[in-house]
Amino acid sequence: MDKVLVVENLHTHFFTENGVVEAVEDVSFHLEKGEMLGLIGESGCGKTTVIQSILRLLEYPGKVMKGKAVMNGIDLLHAPMDQIEKLRWKTISVIPQSAMNALNPVMTVGDQIVEAILLHEEVTKDEAIKRTEYLLEIVGIPKQRRKSYPHEFSGGMKQRVAIAMALACQPQIVISDESTTGLDVLTQAQVIAVIKDLQKKMDLSIILISHDLPMVTAICERVAIMYAGKLVEWATTQQLLNNPQHPYSQGLLAATPDINNLDKVCKSIPGTVPMLIDPPKGCRFQTRCPSVMDKCKQQVPVMRKVQEGHYVSCFLGG
Ligand SMILES: Nc1ncnc2c1ncn2[C@@H]1O[C@H](COP(=O)(O)OP(=O)(O)OP(=O)(O)O)[C@@H](O)[C@H]1O
Ligand code: SF4
Ligand SMILES: [Mg+2]
Repeated sequence: MDKVLVVENLHTHFFTENGVVEAVEDVSFHLEKGEMLGLIGESGCGKTTVIQSILRLLEYPGKVMKGKAVMNGIDLLHAPMDQIEKLRWKTISVIPQSAMNALNPVMTVGDQIVEAILLHEEVTKDEAIKRTEYLLEIVGIPKQRRKSYPHEFSGGMKQRVAIAMALACQPQIVISDESTTGLDVLTQAQVIAVIKDLQKKMDLSIILISHDLPMVTAICERVAIMYAGKLVEWATTQQLLNNPQHPYSQGLLAATPDINNLDKVCKSIPGTVPMLIDPPKGCRFQTRCPSVMDKCKQQVPVMRKVQEGHYVSCFLGG
């Protein structure tokens, strides 16, 4: 399989008045061509910071401290900014958290997509309009609606417009950062179905960021689990479901209802995520881990291979 994005040893900190927030610590993963990778984790665990670091969208006081993010032979973390701007939209594109609220209320949705195409590509206006109509249809919105304004759409439709916008310049990689949060369950399912369909139709590589483990395991080929700024497990969906290795992954799965087993008793993980200013020495999961050992309080577990395609950072079983 071709790797379209390889992230290695990414560290990102926020330099706040109260201290340094170690938001992303030594995160490594890759994305394969045509796959959908789910990036899962509790609120504040660093998912958006990973993406903002890769896309160079991080704002002050955030700073990438070290690492690499290689796409098409270019290290996104170190390439000149004008090169990154050329890659955004055309090669890698993001549907941000609450993307639908970012639509311009005084411009028709069609004009907004046309404008994005014309800004990044040398095509005629007629070609841009044709592509806009195609993109709207592909996300399930009749092409005639390109002349409507955002307020004339429902939340789910606006979110689908935001997806069409992310696809405007035919990128290879699309990152969806909680792009269905805030929608009702049915609309969420419809928007996710659109993303899954696009993956197949356009051979897209997708990173789907979410808190929703059942949804991610239902549609993603592989899953990466973050906890308190660290990647703790990374596996194919089947490996994760059949043989979760990290106590946090096991806890998440135990807390998840199972549609095929309605008698399952769901147990939540006791405790809370540690502060990322001055996180605990050693393993960051130690305060909540049922299997914590002395060495977990002294040493940081490094990511190790369990089997082909399955990695975990935990001392257990190593
Ligand atoms: N601008 C900022 N200044 C200081 N700290 C920040 C800033 N942005 C994020 N952080 C901190 O970095 C950590 C990671 O935040 P991030 O937004 O990446 O989490 P997330 O996993 O995307 O959460 P959510 O699921 O809520 O979107 C958190 O502890 C957060 O408080
Ligand atoms: S390294 Fe130790 S504390 Fe961390 S998850 Fe593994 S057993 Fe638990
Ligand atoms: Mg986020």
